[in-house]
Amino acid sequence: MRPFYLTTPIYYVNDVPHLGHAYTTVVGDTLARYHRSRGEAVRFQTGTDEHGQKIEAAAAARGLTPLQLADEVVSRFRSTWGELGIAHDDFLRTTEPRHAAVVQRLWQRLAERGDIYLGEYDGAYCVACEEYYTETQLVAGNCPVHARPVSRLKQTSYFFRMSRYQDALLEHFERHPEFVQPEMRRNEIVSFIRSGLRDLSVSRSTLSWGIRVPGDDTHVIYVWIDALTNYISALGGFDEAPAYRQFWPQAIHLIGKDILRFHAVYWPCMLLSAGLPLPRTVFAHGWWTVNGQKMSKSLMNAVDPGMLAGDVGRDALRYFLLRETPLGHDGDFAHEALIQRINADLANDLGNLLNRSLAMAAKYCDGQTPALLATGPTDPTDQALIALAERVRDAVASHFERLEPSRALEALWELVRATNKYIDTTAPYRLARAPEQRSRLDQVVAHLLEALRWISVLLTPALPDSAATMRRYLGLPALEPQLEVDQWPARWGDGPTPAALQRGEPLFPRIDDERRQALIARWTARATGGAEVVAAAPTVEASAATPAPAPAEPSDTITIDDFARCELCIAEVRAAARVEGADRLLRLTLEVGGVERQVVSGIAKAYAPEQLLGKRVLLLANLKPTTIRGVRSEGMILAAGDGAGLALCTVDRDIPTGAKVR
Ligand code: MSP
Repeated sequence: MRPFYLTTPIYYVNDVPHLGHAYTTVVGDTLARYHRSRGEAVRFQTGTDEHGQKIEAAAAARGLTPLQLADEVVSRFRSTWGELGIAHDDFLRTTEPRHAAVVQRLWQRLAERGDIYLGEYDGAYCVACEEYYTETQLVAGNCPVHARPVSRLKQTSYFFRMSRYQDALLEHFERHPEFVQPEMRRNEIVSFIRSGLRDLSVSRSTLSWGIRVPGDDTHVIYVWIDALTNYISALGGFDEAPAYRQFWPQAIHLIGKDILRFHAVYWPCMLLSAGLPLPRTVFAHGWWTVNGQKMSKSLMNAVDPGMLAGDVGRDALRYFLLRETPLGHDGDFAHEALIQRINADLANDLGNLLNRSLAMAAKYCDGQTPALLATGPTDPTDQALIALAERVRDAVASHFERLEPSRALEALWELVRATNKYIDTTAPYRLARAPEQRSRLDQVVAHLLEALRWISVLLTPALPDSAATMRRYLGLPALEPQLEVDQWPARWGDGPTPAALQRGEPLFPRIDDERRQALIARWTARATGGAEVVAAAPTVEASAATPAPAPAEPSDTITIDDFARCELCIAEVRAAARVEGADRLLRLTLEVGGVERQVVSGIAKAYAPEQLLGKRVLLLANLKPTTIRGVRSEGMILAAGDGAGLALCTVDRDIPTGAKVR
């Protein structure tokens, strides 16, 4: 069986994770989970791009070393991927020695081929893209991507003889129509190559934050050469590395459309020069706008992926991202559309189906799954359901294989809706009134539960948590993605014997109007910076130990000196756990300027412990220490509250822990 290797871009560490990053990573995770569920050997790779001028400048602006900045942002990426349920096999940082060694070896290989030479670069450079432009590529003298002024670079640099590979690359495109997708992007790139490839400046002598050019300490390697090599260094290098041999030629690079040229021109030319095989496919997805607008910094806050996952559930967010827009098209993230999808597709279609089926099984079949009759179905309604399920199973698989997750979900929802319809057609409540229909009623419930079992498997790649909950409710064992066996349903009724059915919380609670308004208000406030600020002090359970302060009279005012008595500072959550026997309390370990302290906080209803890891919060540090439920608490973190619950107060750019809040 062909192994599956899927990569995301490695993300720059001058920005915290945003919706665009989350999109690629959720799509990649879903595809990787699908291939794991088919029993294939899978490797799903992500990481961070930490060198280059852009990162050096961002760190300097914050008074940090580039590595300090990277360490901080990397912990944000890691925690966000946890919040979104991303199961990557590896997370590579370009500052790791395992990476630098491979970049230098690849450089040497290009040099041995006679493709590296020293020359003079004199031209335009956009730091935001970390890309060189010719005069004709600029738009009114500005960067064509960022519409911002470019810098003028005049320097001695090493060049890569990219022009030498123009014909070989065009031939590769010719022979491998699947190399660049979607087709429109392929055409763009082919015409770019036909217009003539120039040699590429691949080193910088004016920059020190990067990987050294072998044999010349005065130059560092161009950040894109460094970054692209991650796809191979993550496999342990080239030529002999076992993971490289197993996975490399199958690589699929999933990227955004803005970085296609690097992946579909520069990278393959380097590989051709090094005599290495090219990846199988480079797939460029579109860009998201937010409520119809380009994603600016403030709009990014309103679509912070970790926050959205916390507010609506991570599977709901994953569903929206995967379903809303076909991969390859641009999409718009509208908050109202997110809520609509949750209510219509998740709560109404899927949630209700599960709920109705379990309720019927509880009422008519003592909460057990009736056996499907071995003689097979003769009822045309049953036959139609089975035929549809088989068609949907194959369609879901082929859409995932063809990198069409939105269509895979669309197909799956055909089965969800058809199964709801099956209930309406077979009318089990009517059968239940006629004792002579007892065995027919059992068969109807059995078919329903079998359809749900199929749905739980087909849903696993996209919505792993919900699929796992469904299986628990259905009395089925969890799927084991690591087993390397195909777990896709083969025949109707061929599943494991289920244990007793279970009932529990609804899979996707409907967002009612009150909650909808509260959520929209909260998200709008995130974009505009409003919201009332309250302290996330321990509540209810803690009240015996720490009496709540009397509410301030509206007319009460304090002086700046009063405020100055509050020592407020930035802290990072390093560990979080529930306090035993107190369902509102979390025990947090915070890091404040290099020192750890423990705080008990009443936010357990709003945040799961793992959602908090890596978050930068506001700490009232000189609150008198106290002991709550036997746990010592040295301070209090702040949160804002409204009808929808609590939201932690945090800072809108990364600022070192210990920094004072004034
Ligand atoms: N570090 C490089 C990639 C090196 S890969 C060898 C880089 N990093 S990035 O952090 O700036 O961007 C990472 C990805 O995020 C890109 O694929 C980009 O297309 C994607 N997105 C950034 N904003 C986006 C949207 N608004 N919508 C969708 N994806 C977007 O480039």
